[in-house]
Amino acid sequence: MSRPLTTDQPDRTVELDARARAGRFLLARLGSLLALLPVGVWTAHHLWNSLAAFDSPGAWQGAVTGYTSTATAVLTMVLVLGPLLWHTIWGIIRMLRSRPSPDIARLSNVRYIVQRLAAIGLLLFLGAHLWLAWAQPRFFQGRPEPFADIAHEMRHTWATTLVYVLGVLAIAYHLANGLWSFAMGWGITVSKRGLAWAERIAFVVFMALLAVGWSAVYALWRAGA
Ligand code: HEM
Repeated sequence: MSRPLTTDQPDRTVELDARARAGRFLLARLGSLLALLPVGVWTAHHLWNSLAAFDSPGAWQGAVTGYTSTATAVLTMVLVLGPLLWHTIWGIIRMLRSRPSPDIARLSNVRYIVQRLAAIGLLLFLGAHLWLAWAQPRFFQGRPEPFADIAHEMRHTWATTLVYVLGVLAIAYHLANGLWSFAMGWGITVSKRGLAWAERIAFVVFMALLAVGWSAVYALWRAGA
């Protein structure tokens, strides 16, 4: 069996078909991996930072919209929005190609359907949130979203408050349930006991994200009075 002469040569001991299959497999798994790291971790961090709204407008501004330099702002944008875009396209393709199985337990089917409904909700929420709170203020008004504006909107426009309450619910469910399906999909939890533990952890993550996210929405609403 021939061996590759240098590391930059393709390994011809592996059939082309198998290599192509492995490449396609990795490409597909990337949509799942990027959802957790960096997108999921960044999202949890973003919700946590938003709690600074309880302290003062300056604290919120620094924690949520502040960057140490323009380079870190650009790098964060590329490293978070790029993977989010990849995951979104991956998710839409999976939604179009897969259907709930009639064989699996009913609760699993409900969770599968809610995961996809949350994904559609997130698509709409993130589109509006990214445009109104990030792109429009930064690129069209030449400054980051001011605390006073978002707090005022949260307090005086009931539709905004409702959209944020539902958006946080969608992200908490989608990310927590996604953590569980990620662990299963990557073979981290395979036994019945492992799956039951993953379910408990996902529930705790769901409650924690909900508590942090809804508290941040409340803090903005309170500050907008
Ligand atoms: C902040 C935004 C988001 C985060 C943190 C996130 C996170 C996750 C995680 C961790 C998973 C589990 C991956 C796995 O099972 O291997 C997942 C699954 C999924 N995501 Fe997202 N997601 C986000 C936004 C979106 C959007 C906008 C869409 C598309 C509309 C989407 C569609 C999906 C779908 C369909 C699945 C299930 C895939 C399957 O089980 O077959 N996600 N997401």
